[in-house]
Amino acid sequence: MAGKRTAGHQNPFRISGTVAGAYFTNREAELARIVRTMREPGAKLLVTGARRIGKTSTLERAVEAVTTAGAAACMADLSTASTPVDMANRILTAANRVVKRGWAMALREHLAHLKLSVTMKPELETGLPSLSLDVSVRDSDPATQEASLAHVLDLLNALAGKRHMTLALVLDEFQEIARFGEQAEWRLRGVIQRHQHLSYVVAGSHLALLDAMQGKGRAFYKLFERCPFGPIAPDHMAAWIDARLAAVGLASQDVGVQCVTIAGARTRDIVRLARKCVDRAAGTRPIDMAAVEAAFLEILDEDADGTQRWWAALTVPQQNVLRAVAGATTGLTTRTTQQQFGLLASTTKTAQGLVADGVLQRTTHGAGYAFDDPFLRGWVVRAALPDLGMVIPATFIASPTDEYGGRDTLSAPRG
Ligand SMILES: Nc1ncnc2c1ncn2[C@@H]1O[C@H](COP(=O)(O)OP(=O)(O)O)[C@@H](O)[C@H]1O
Ligand SMILES: [Mg+2]
Repeated sequence: MAGKRTAGHQNPFRISGTVAGAYFTNREAELARIVRTMREPGAKLLVTGARRIGKTSTLERAVEAVTTAGAAACMADLSTASTPVDMANRILTAANRVVKRGWAMALREHLAHLKLSVTMKPELETGLPSLSLDVSVRDSDPATQEASLAHVLDLLNALAGKRHMTLALVLDEFQEIARFGEQAEWRLRGVIQRHQHLSYVVAGSHLALLDAMQGKGRAFYKLFERCPFGPIAPDHMAAWIDARLAAVGLASQDVGVQCVTIAGARTRDIVRLARKCVDRAAGTRPIDMAAVEAAFLEILDEDADGTQRWWAALTVPQQNVLRAVAGATTGLTTRTTQQQFGLLASTTKTAQGLVADGVLQRTTHGAGYAFDDPFLRGWVVRAALPDLGMVIPATFIASPTDEYGGRDTLSAPRG
C-alpha cells in the first residue's frame, strides 16, 4: 500500500510507543505543570488519564525538558512489575542512567550495607554499570521485598541530598503497587512522604483503582496533587492532522475532522486512523471522507484475528450486551433494547463487569455505556450486529463517550 503514496514521504503520524518532536502536539499546560513539579524538591503529582490519551509521551517530554535544563530526572515504567523488587529494579536502572558514574558505586555499597545484594554489570547499550537487586530478593517474604523498594528510594533521596540536588522520579503505571496490597501502599506512603530531595510524578490509567488508592482512610489520601489528562481539544487535533498532511504534500478534505469524529477521544486512536489514511493514500488524489472510512475498515481487518478470538471467549450475555452498546440508541434496561438484543435481567451486572475489564465505560448517551476502543466498536457493528439482522456502517456510533466533557465532538465541519 505504502508504495502507492507519493514517493519519499514519511508517514507524519506515529503510533508505536511514545511520540516526540513533530509527532507530538499540544499538552503545553500539562507539560508545564509536570515540569514545575519535577523541579520542586518534595513535590508530588499524580497524572491520571485514560489509556492511549498521551500520558507517557508527555511525561517523556517533561523528563527531556528537565534534563535539557541541566537537572536530573528519570522515568520508570512499573506496568510489568510482578513484585516490589521488580519495581525497585526498574527505579534503580532508571536512576542509574541519569546520575553520574559515582552513584552506581555508592548505591551498591549502601545496598550491600543493608544486606541487599546487588548485581552490577555493564549495560549493553551504554556500557555504564547497571544495577539490579539479586534475584534471590524476589523470593523473600513480602515485607523484605517492600523494604527493598523503600531502601532504594531512601538511598536515592540520601544521595541526591548529599549532592545538593533534586532528582525527579517519574513512576508510570503507578497503580500497579496496589497488586501488593494495602500494607505495601502504606509503607510506600511513609517513604515518599519524607523525601525532600526527590520529586515524584506518578501516573496511571486505571482511574477507579487510583481513586480508591487515594480515598479517605487509604494510604495515598491527600498525598499527591492531581493533574488529570483529558482528550486534546478535537478542533486542535483536526487542524493538526490536516497541517501534518499538508506538510507532506497530501491534499485532504476535512480528514482531521473525520478522524476525530470516527475515532473518538483518545489521541492514539485518532492518530492511528490518520496514519492509516496516509498509508492508503494514492498519488495526488485528495484523501476524502470515503477514504477515511476505508482506512477505518482496514484497521478493523488488521485487528480481526485478535478481535475474533476475544469475541469467542466472551459469554453469550456479554456478547449481547456488547451488541446492544454498539447498536442501541436507548438504555440497556429499556424494554425496546432488551427485546431487540435479547438482554437478560442480569444485564446491568454484565455491563458493569465489562466496565471493570476496561472494555466499556459509562456514558450519558445512547445505551448508557460506550466502547473504550472505537475499533472494537466498529468490529462489533460490522461483524456481530448482522447476527441480529442489523446491517449498519461500521463507523456508526450509537453511544458516543462523554470524554469530551459534554461538549459537541466538534464544531461544524468546515466547507
Ligand atoms: N500529544 C500527542 N501528540 C500526538 N500524538 C500523541 C500525543 N499523545 C499521544 N499520542 C499518540 O498516542 C500514542 C500513545 O501515547 P502514550 O503517551 O503512550 O499514551 P498513554 O501513556 O496515555 O497510554 C502515541 O504513540 C501517539 O500516536
Ligand atoms: Mg502510558
